[in-house]
Amino acid sequence: MNHQETSRRKFIRSSSALAGFYILPSGLRANSPNGRLQSAHIGVGGKGSVDTAQIAAHPNTQVVALCDVDRNSLDGRGRKQKTNGKERYPGAKKFQDYREMFAAMSEKIDIVSVSTPDHTHYPATMKAIELGKHVYTQKPLTNNIAEARTLMTSARKHKVFTQMGIQNQSSIAYRTATHFIRSGLIGKISKVHVWSFKNWGYDGPPHKGEDPVPANLDWNMWLGTAPERSFVKGKYHTMDWRRYMDFGCGTLGDMGIHIFDRPFGTLDLKPPTWAKATCRATTGYGLPTKMIVDLGFKSTPRTTDNFSWTWYDGTYGPPENDGNLGVPADKKLPKQGAIFVGEGGSMLLGHINGPLFFPGSVYDKLKKPDIPKKVNHYSNWIDSILAGKGEPTARFDYAAPLTESVLLGVIASRYPGKKIEWNTAEGKVTNIKEANKYVAFQNTRNF
Ligand SMILES: NC(=O)c1ccc[n+]([C@@H]2O[C@H](COP(=O)([O-])OP(=O)(O)OC[C@H]3O[C@@H](n4cnc5c(N)ncnc54)[C@H](O)[C@@H]3O)[C@@H](O)[C@H]2O)c1
Repeated sequence: MNHQETSRRKFIRSSSALAGFYILPSGLRANSPNGRLQSAHIGVGGKGSVDTAQIAAHPNTQVVALCDVDRNSLDGRGRKQKTNGKERYPGAKKFQDYREMFAAMSEKIDIVSVSTPDHTHYPATMKAIELGKHVYTQKPLTNNIAEARTLMTSARKHKVFTQMGIQNQSSIAYRTATHFIRSGLIGKISKVHVWSFKNWGYDGPPHKGEDPVPANLDWNMWLGTAPERSFVKGKYHTMDWRRYMDFGCGTLGDMGIHIFDRPFGTLDLKPPTWAKATCRATTGYGLPTKMIVDLGFKSTPRTTDNFSWTWYDGTYGPPENDGNLGVPADKKLPKQGAIFVGEGGSMLLGHINGPLFFPGSVYDKLKKPDIPKKVNHYSNWIDSILAGKGEPTARFDYAAPLTESVLLGVIASRYPGKKIEWNTAEGKVTNIKEANKYVAFQNTRNF
């Protein structure tokens, strides 16, 4: 992506209509007269509350629009909002439909965050990209591979700066882990074990019945591109949607995307060429409450030729440490994390913890470790936009292949025990043709 060229073009395009606009050092136009990037936030009740606050905390931003299908979230009474209804962003315009928000004030918006349930990441993010907005989208990028690939290519085409919300990637712990692996401290990596104890699955039958939709909720907008479904109180909205195939991606999509990130990025991996899941038979409705997924990644200069990768979740995670995982059998594994097994030792990276090395002699090779600095994941994106250059670390060029890796595991969970062969160049399952319907776009309601 040639951002400098984009900046120049935007500068030329905007210079005829300069009055009232502020030109940033990069040549980008900020819509606010004071030069701040004007932000709009879609999905503000859960993680979106944090995303909005973090973006608002940057000195060169200003919140101008909030959008949420739930009036309670819009008014500061959402799941994670501690404002008790107090207006946190006075002056920000409020909407329940992001399409109406863009129609009403697109010209005033520079940057957008999307923190809705996974199935809405694609339509909301796509709309923002097509309007030339820079976008911060929560993880996983989408709950469908075709959508992730399209967001990546569209972001390139529209030359917008993007970031996916895997904020741990910017932590000192994760950056240090990458630094040590890349410095060759434990040699090439032959095996990755990744796990989470969490259970974002559901093994039962479809929820029955229908409850009245609360007056504060626009259920049609909540469903968006997902198939028609009755509103059932306490299910789906809020948070619970993660358990169901039409909306989320289970524990693999929820925690796996964070935990895959460090080995995937550090080892320069591309999406896998096959995936195989060990789990219950599919119900076509909920994700399995526990599963093991083996993924076949092509080796890279940072891995051995026989490189392999296994994910464990629910009660399968952490894996039983019998001493064959690369760390001593008496080492209690954290509830979520990763082990990198190298030619010259292993690294245990607990989720949100710093790296530990085995055997102890690995530490003898650590002379003055050069620990990387913490990066603010949101500023990493905002500062790139302001400068008109730079590459946010979880930009869609990185986030889409990472998401694809996780989603292949989700597709494999529909065919337990079978190896799903994946043609990365064509984006197709080659051995089970019908599986490609789970790769394709979902928009059965013609939303
Ligand atoms: N990066 C992290 O650490 C982290 C942590 C938690 C959640 N997340 C991600 O954040 C996203 C939201 O998760 P959550 O736990 O906050 O879910 P949630 O259900 O608690 O909150 C979602 C919010 O989006 C609103 N919403 C739903 N559909 C919408 C639509 N079409 N338009 C506008 N608003 C809509 C809901 O009303 C609600 O306020 C997910 O993608 C999740 O994976 C990331």
